[in-house]
Amino acid sequence: MASFTFAGSLAGRSVARVGFGAMQLPGPGVLGPPRDRDAALAVLRRAVELGVDHIDTAQFYGPDVANELIHEALHPYPDDLLLVSKVGAKRDADGAWHPAQTPAELRAGVEDNLRTLDVEQLGAVNLRRMHEHDLSGADVVPLEDQLAEMVALRDEGKIAGIGISTAPLAEVEAAIATAGIVCVQNAFSLVDRSDADVLAACSAAGVAYVPYFPLGSAFPHLPKVVDQPTVQAVAARLDATPAQVGLAWLLSHDESILLIPGTSSVAHLEDNLAVGDLTLSAADLAELDAATPA
Ligand SMILES: NC(=O)c1ccc[n+]([C@@H]2O[C@H](COP(=O)([O-])OP(=O)(O)OC[C@H]3O[C@@H](n4cnc5c(N)ncnc54)[C@H](OP(=O)(O)O)[C@@H]3O)[C@@H](O)[C@H]2O)c1
Repeated sequence: MASFTFAGSLAGRSVARVGFGAMQLPGPGVLGPPRDRDAALAVLRRAVELGVDHIDTAQFYGPDVANELIHEALHPYPDDLLLVSKVGAKRDADGAWHPAQTPAELRAGVEDNLRTLDVEQLGAVNLRRMHEHDLSGADVVPLEDQLAEMVALRDEGKIAGIGISTAPLAEVEAAIATAGIVCVQNAFSLVDRSDADVLAACSAAGVAYVPYFPLGSAFPHLPKVVDQPTVQAVAARLDATPAQVGLAWLLSHDESILLIPGTSSVAHLEDNLAVGDLTLSAADLAELDAATPA
C-alpha cells in the first residue's frame, strides 16, 4: 500500500498529486528555444497521456517559450487540465530576471498568459513575490496592493484561484486571511526544509502547498536530492530511483503537498510519475527525515 494518497485538490478542482513543472522546457538557463523542440513537445504530450492534469508555467519561462510549447502540444486542452501560471517577474535580452511587481504589471502578466495559452481563465496564478535583495533597487510594492489586484482579476473571472510564491510565513498568513489564496509555491524538498513553517500553515488552512525545486532544481549551485547518499541507499533497497524516493518523501510528508517536478526528458517524466508505485515504510521515512543534506 502506498504511504500517500494520489488525489489532491487545487482551486476547487480535483487534481492528481503529481503534476508537471514547465520550467525545464525552454533552453539552458530557462532562456530561448529548447535544444530539441520535438522532445519538449513530446514531454508535454506524454505527461497528459500519463494522467497529468496540473501544469505549472510562466510567461517568463523562455520568455514566452514554455507557454508557446504548452499551447502547441496540448491545445485544445483536455477539460480536466489545470493550467497554473505566475506573475511578478520579467526577463531582459540576456535572460536576467527583473521584478514586474506593480499591480499594472501583474495584470499585464495575467493578460499575457491568457493570450499565449489561449484560455479565457487561468486555473490559478501565483503572485511571485520579490524581496529587497532581488529588486535591483526597485521599490518594494506593498503586498496588500498586489493582493487587491489579484482579487480584482479573480473577480473579473480571469483567474480561478490566487496563489503566492516565494513568500515568508507572515505574507502567506496575510494572503490566506485577506485574499483566500488556494496555493503557495515556495522551495521545499529533502535538501531544503527551511520552509516547514509555511507548509504547516498551509496544511492547517487547507491551502495546497506546491513546492518548487522538489528535486533540488536544475541550478548547479544548489544541492540535488538524487545525489544524497541516504536517498540513494533507500532507492537501492526499494528498487526505485533516487528521484522517486525524493518525490515519495514529499508526498508522504504532508497531504497538502502537490508536486510539479520539472524535466526536459520523457524518461525522467515517466520515472517521476511512477512514484505512485513506490511504498515508503515508516522506517524509510524516519531514515530520510533524519538525513542531513550533504
Ligand atoms: N514559483 C517560483 O518562483 C518557481 C521557481 C522555480 C521553479 N518553479 C516551478 O517548479 C517546477 C519544479 O522546479 P524545477 O523544475 O526548477 O526543479 P526540480 O523539479 O527540483 O528539478 C529539475 C531538475 O531535476 C532533473 N530531473 C527531473 N526528473 C529527474 C529524474 N527522474 N532523475 C534525475 N533528474 C531529474 C531535471 O533534469 P532533466 O531536465 O534532465 O530531467 C532538472 O535538472 C518548475 O518546473 C517550475 O514550474 C517555480
